[in-house]
Amino acid sequence: MALEGKRVLLVIGGGIAAYKSLELIRRLKDRGATVRVIMTRAGQEFITPLSVGALAGERAFTDLFDPAGEFDVSHIRLAREPDLVVVAPATADLIAKMAGGHADDLASTVLMATDKRVLIAPAMNPAMWEHPATQRNFARVTADGIEAIGPNEGAMAERGEAGPGRMAEPDEIIAAIEASLSALPDRHALSGKRVLVTSGPTHEPIDPVRFLSNRSSGRQGHAVARAAAAAGAEVVLVSGPVELPDPAGVKTVHVETASQMLAAAEAALPVDAAVCAAAVADWHVAEEAREKLKKTPGKPPTLTLVDNPDVLATLARHKRRPRLVIGFAAETEKIVDHARAKLRAKGCDWILANDISPASGVLGGMKNTIHFVTAEGVESWPTQTKQAIADGLVRRIAAALNGAGARK
Ligand code: CTP
Repeated sequence: MALEGKRVLLVIGGGIAAYKSLELIRRLKDRGATVRVIMTRAGQEFITPLSVGALAGERAFTDLFDPAGEFDVSHIRLAREPDLVVVAPATADLIAKMAGGHADDLASTVLMATDKRVLIAPAMNPAMWEHPATQRNFARVTADGIEAIGPNEGAMAERGEAGPGRMAEPDEIIAAIEASLSALPDRHALSGKRVLVTSGPTHEPIDPVRFLSNRSSGRQGHAVARAAAAAGAEVVLVSGPVELPDPAGVKTVHVETASQMLAAAEAALPVDAAVCAAAVADWHVAEEAREKLKKTPGKPPTLTLVDNPDVLATLARHKRRPRLVIGFAAETEKIVDHARAKLRAKGCDWILANDISPASGVLGGMKNTIHFVTAEGVESWPTQTKQAIADGLVRRIAAALNGAGARK
């Protein structure tokens, strides 16, 4: 059975879609998973703890301050035991609580206390889904590494209303759960290994207030650092300026420029694997002005640009070369051809070519479509979240470093 031995904690929020969660519990059990359920107070207005308990095979958890519950299974145990936490339906209120870090009931407290992967299935009226507050909160939680499935478009429970907001169907949620759990690297897959990750853009100063940079968010690199740490590696993350928090359990070194990034990366050697996910600026300004450049109308300054060091290529040819050197490539056309050329030019082992063509819908999105290019060939990965890509990559790194498969 696909989910044999897996432990899923299901959080049922207060939405009409809660009735689909009963079907979800049944299907999870059919696939061999152990299911524990937390219901919010609003969730209990739509379906009863009794029906949930009957399907799950144990009582539903509903109260934070329930002495019987706390002695029997504490909220910390509920948070730590599962392999995956699924929130379905994830209401606007639950997503807002997750985004804001609230912990005022059992569901939100467990969501704060968990160190496990979380998958949410948003469900709400289209007007609530499209509200700027919900969009802001949803962007925040996905940036924090939470995975999402849906919402779908379609008819709503309210008569005559349609639009985005329908909860994904149980089948789709099951598929997302299986994808998430199968990608999960083993907790000790990288124990005893050192991994270096570069992430984010670099800032190349023009003068004390201006700089050259790019739109990289650092999400993919930070996700790789998190995934490697979750697999037991000692991780050094060299990050350019990003708005993301430092990942827990990772040594994060903050840099601004490409040359600082190279110096920090070299200082982290020796490592077993280096993953260069940073969008390093290609050039810096030949002479950074010491004072702010003043404008003279009609006489714009001419900037002379000089090549930056290539961190990836330098590591690939280093005398203390990591066993595995991995790069990313952002391409809009001839993705695989360009990635192959880059693999050779940089001397690295693997390239994750990132399809950012407008047709892929990836640009600016939370998901990514990867072509995994090695000297041996190319594999095209399905479109998935940046965290899922990071997990898949970490599993491959572990397999390569532990000898189950060739380096290249
Ligand atoms: N890279 C690096 N140092 C640089 C430039 C790039 O480490 N100075 C790394 C990136 O982290 C990434 C890969 O090299 O892993 C990207 O290669 P790059 O040649 O910059 O390709 P693209 O960004 O895809 O751009 P282009 O197609 O213009 O070459």
